[in-house]
Amino acid sequence: MKSIASAPGKIILFGEHFVVYGISAILCSIDKRITATSQFVDDKIIKIRSSLGEFEMNVDSLNNLENVQQKFMKPFFYIAQKAIKENSMERGIEIVIESEIPSGVGLGSSSASCVAVTASVNGLFHRLSKDEVVKIAIQAERTIFEQNSGADSSVSTFGGLVSYDLKNGFQDISSKNELSFIISNSAQVHDTQNVVRQVKEFKDKNTELFNKLCNEEIDIVNNAIISLKENNLVKLGSLMLENHNLLKQIGVSTEKIDFLVKEAKKTAHGAKITGAGGGGCIISLVDDSNKKSTLDNLRKTADCFIAKIDYSGLRYT
Ligand code: PMV
Repeated sequence: MKSIASAPGKIILFGEHFVVYGISAILCSIDKRITATSQFVDDKIIKIRSSLGEFEMNVDSLNNLENVQQKFMKPFFYIAQKAIKENSMERGIEIVIESEIPSGVGLGSSSASCVAVTASVNGLFHRLSKDEVVKIAIQAERTIFEQNSGADSSVSTFGGLVSYDLKNGFQDISSKNELSFIISNSAQVHDTQNVVRQVKEFKDKNTELFNKLCNEEIDIVNNAIISLKENNLVKLGSLMLENHNLLKQIGVSTEKIDFLVKEAKKTAHGAKITGAGGGGCIISLVDDSNKKSTLDNLRKTADCFIAKIDYSGLRYT
């Protein structure tokens, strides 16, 4: 018996970094997925296969997760070992993870993997609800990133276009918008924790400026919510450029990212970093009138693909 589940990656449309300081962000899941396929194996081992390699651990040795040498594999071993223990299973599990999302560039691939693996592994015993899946996926992510807000896993599980802030959590803000984005990968791998730390240093040194930028971000996000309701792509694009400018000022852009945004701006409605920055990806807002010209131009410099908003979130196959 095989248990298969898939979960989408995500992009941040507005508000990354500022969200850490209480301001709302707008994010959505995208129609690019991670698929996890699980099945029982006779030996008491957990075996994981992905594009990153093949990894295998004895179930009992996982009582101490520190035994996992490849840090990025910890969440998946955690998920599988928890399911085996809770279901008093005397066999092991093999998990295959397949991805349509590049990793380490701010598109939520690790959260989507945690969501898909949680649903797929537990589906071998009984299907979990989305609420149950997201709880375990967040715990799993916290085995490597303790301060994880859970935002990525939540968007991946439930899908759609949402606003998020630390106090109120998520709010569905979609009017079933059918937005198209070109995602361009700078191929500069970033480390979110490092970039978040650098922003904190910037904030501590430039308190007044940072407060001013926070107020500008609040306006951008409020106007973006209105533009989304009106489906005003021109306005939305110009707000993205304004938001990129703020991200530049707090020091999270790079030369390559700025070059990509400058090129995108020639034809797209707007463009900006998505996620932590310090590399990673930019998103460009397009429609049928400027999709091809923008894509042809950006492809001269970066790997690109088109993404739309995903409204389904976690799916069992
Ligand atoms: O690069 P990502 O997708 O992991 O984005 C992180 C978003 C931040 O606002 C920079 C950090 C956070 O925890 O919200």
